[in-house]
Amino acid sequence: MKYYIVTYGCQMNVHESEKLAAICEKMGYTLAEKREEADLIVFNTCAIREGAEDRVFGNVGALKKLKKQKKDLIIAVCGCMTQKETTANHIMRTFPFVDIVIGTFNLPNFEYYVNAVKKGRQLEILESGEIDELVPYKRTSGENAWVNIMQGCNNFCTYCIVPYVRGREKSRSEENILKEIREVVAEGKYKKITLLGQNVNSYGKDLSPAVSFAKLLKDICQIEGDFKLWFMTSHPKDLTDEVIDVIANEDKILKDIHLPAQSGNNRILNLMNRRYTREKYLGIIEKIREKMPNCRITSDFIVGFPTETEEEFEDTMSLVEQVKYDSIFAFMYSPREGTVASKMEEQISQEVKQRRVNALLALEKKIQKQEGKK
Ligand code: 5AD
Ligand code: SF4
Repeated sequence: MKYYIVTYGCQMNVHESEKLAAICEKMGYTLAEKREEADLIVFNTCAIREGAEDRVFGNVGALKKLKKQKKDLIIAVCGCMTQKETTANHIMRTFPFVDIVIGTFNLPNFEYYVNAVKKGRQLEILESGEIDELVPYKRTSGENAWVNIMQGCNNFCTYCIVPYVRGREKSRSEENILKEIREVVAEGKYKKITLLGQNVNSYGKDLSPAVSFAKLLKDICQIEGDFKLWFMTSHPKDLTDEVIDVIANEDKILKDIHLPAQSGNNRILNLMNRRYTREKYLGIIEKIREKMPNCRITSDFIVGFPTETEEEFEDTMSLVEQVKYDSIFAFMYSPREGTVASKMEEQISQEVKQRRVNALLALEKKIQKQEGKK
């Protein structure tokens, strides 16, 4: 019996697929080289933009034929998309040949669902589910080991679906994180450890007693071994001077910070509920460069947020010009059902968004050429 996992979206999903892979192997499945050979196909989905969802619909739909030829094939769709009830229902209705539709909160129960389907029950969606510390990972990212430090997000940026599909922030205990990293380091094959969380800088605020992200970083660096430490994603409003100092002072921590700005305009940042200004953001960049002149800095930007004018978009261009990032991701705003921004009037046309994203990417290319950045 073979399994095949198709992963969409961010590193968190890549890492959760490593958990799914471990569950499949525990059940006795082995990895198939391609989906046609598999007895169990899992789609681990992403809901961040419409494009990501459309790809899932297309790829799941394409399995109809395979399922006809192979009656016992089990097809599961899970992750952020299916955490939304309307999308989960839509998938069940549109693709009746899909056996399992579950959200992010139910991943730890994946084995239960597969067994239920084998006994002839179809399409389970149950709520609940906790971070399951006991499920092991089948690590699949070469020399890099992902280590999840927290789930969820409390920020409710007005464009973002994440708080709805991943719930509120919930930190893992420092003890469990350190234990996992000690084990990973002891295996000797991982040269890089990447801490994952939607907003790593607010790590530990929900623990009692609270543990700061700076302390977590310092404690991890105390672990003996030949490894580099990286983390993502940082929110500018929570990146403290203390964390910047720790990054600067600890040799094990990579001098590489992903610090999404999203926009360079204060009115748009406010509408996005980002809770920092362009000036505050630039102040953080200055501090980073002062302490670590060669630090890599990367960012995400959204263009065409509802009501964004040409001048406001130009502020994003000028921020990119000013910071001279090592690399940026630029996205066209995509309305997500249920978020505050999707209900705002004056949505920007596709044509304008496309033009702005092209302009931003062209600017980035120009800067990279000038600065000789990679
Ligand atoms: N539309 C476009 N881009 C988005 N992002 C998050 N939500 C949306 C959306 N609705 C982008 C942000 C974030 C990155 C992971 O995805 O830039 O930092
Ligand atoms: Fe989404 Fe904002 Fe949370 Fe990032 S910080 S996951 S953009 S709500």
